[in-house]
Amino acid sequence: IPVAPFVLTVFGATGDLSRRKLLPALFHRDIDGQIPDDAVIIGVSRRPLSDEEFRNFARQALVDHVAESDLEGGALERFLGRLSYIAADADADPGWPELAHRVSGLPGHIPVYYLATAPHLFGPICERLGKFGLADHGRVVIEKPIGKDLESALKLNEQVGKIFPEDQVYRIDHYLGKETVQNLMALRFANALFEPLWNNAHIDHVQITVAEALGVEDRAGYYDTAGAMRDMVQNHMLQLLCLVAMEPPSSLEADAVRDEKLKVLRALKPIDDHNMASVTVRGQYRAGASAGGAVPGYLEELGSERSETETFVAVKAEVENWRWAGVPFYLRTGKRLASRVSEIVVGFRPVPHSVFGDAVGAIVPNRLVIRLQPDEGVKLWLMIKDPGPGGIRLTHVPLDMSFAKAFKVRNPDAYERLLLDVVRGNQTLFMRRDEVEAAWRWVDPILSAWRGAKDPPRPYTAGTWGPSAAIALIERDGRTWLEDG
Ligand code: BG6
Repeated sequence: IPVAPFVLTVFGATGDLSRRKLLPALFHRDIDGQIPDDAVIIGVSRRPLSDEEFRNFARQALVDHVAESDLEGGALERFLGRLSYIAADADADPGWPELAHRVSGLPGHIPVYYLATAPHLFGPICERLGKFGLADHGRVVIEKPIGKDLESALKLNEQVGKIFPEDQVYRIDHYLGKETVQNLMALRFANALFEPLWNNAHIDHVQITVAEALGVEDRAGYYDTAGAMRDMVQNHMLQLLCLVAMEPPSSLEADAVRDEKLKVLRALKPIDDHNMASVTVRGQYRAGASAGGAVPGYLEELGSERSETETFVAVKAEVENWRWAGVPFYLRTGKRLASRVSEIVVGFRPVPHSVFGDAVGAIVPNRLVIRLQPDEGVKLWLMIKDPGPGGIRLTHVPLDMSFAKAFKVRNPDAYERLLLDVVRGNQTLFMRRDEVEAAWRWVDPILSAWRGAKDPPRPYTAGTWGPSAAIALIERDGRTWLEDG
């Protein structure tokens, strides 16, 4: 779907997010013919740079992050021609009149402001956008961390909300832009098959795993102030849980979807000092090995002797409503785990009675696996009879739909979809203010219970599946983590 002409201003244009994600995403949309000819991209950061120097920066970013074949045939130069640069500081006026002049000189263009900066600058940048008359029809895009707890999130939302009404605020959770995450909605609501079974009468439990093989690398400074709960659970994991658990919205209109997600967040069973120890596990990696060889522990990467920051979390969450009463949602995420895999496993209940008597092979309950990455796809595990004449022998096999095999197209990055949705004015895949706040309302008491606990995060060896307590967490319930669907 083509988009209207826009003028996109990226604050923090020379930063990591811009280099690794935003510029490559915009470039890909451009070569796919999705960006109108007269669209303009303005980079802003504090560094004094000429337009030419910024274009060189962008050129390098694209060389580093885009396939060589995509850069051929004049596409790169055409894209770079859209870029210009202004040096400006969030806390001072110089540069801002020039930005206001350039944006107002493009009257038919939708103004979009992407705040790819440290979050403490979101407030000051919005204030200046207001002061220089840039906010009126503009859309502002911000990304996590949206606060570090409920109080700071309220404050931040307040600061942004003073300048931009909610329908002009786009809070990115890049997981919502992932193809397979959107596919979850297609799977649930474009098939008649699943919805009748999508409840506690037929579903035994749900597992959501977002495992990373990498450590914190050069982000240790930020990460140590966050930890896995704030970095992954408060946003990405809870968003995934919402998409699995929400009631069917009446349409894909933004508020219809967001209202349903909000109800799920509000129905989450509270976890606090009383039940924290039995339903959560936090861990921190020690030195170990990954596919590439020996890797250091978290404290070594941090360059510190002590830190209670968790690099792994497992939680048994519950959604307290009629649909889900009694169905645990086991969430786990961590750095330096055995492999990079993100998937949602919906485990169905066992058949009520086996008619097979002496058949060899146990009846394994059905499960639906939605693999977000890598090898995106959907698998439905079924029981069948093993071929052969020797009586009935049961085995379970997947109906396996791999996206790479089924669709021979490049899997677009989440930012490609999300950036153009901002221009289209489609907020469906963005978090509303009350969703972010509801997520913090659930997370805060867990963080506070951890702070009050005497025991530090449990150590786990890099390259494993986390602390053994996380295995015990699910096995106590007679279930097991499923690593390969
Ligand atoms: C980010 C987190 O939001 O998501 C990172 O801050 C994490 O710590 C990343 O590595 C994971 O995203 P993806 O798309 O690689 O799964």
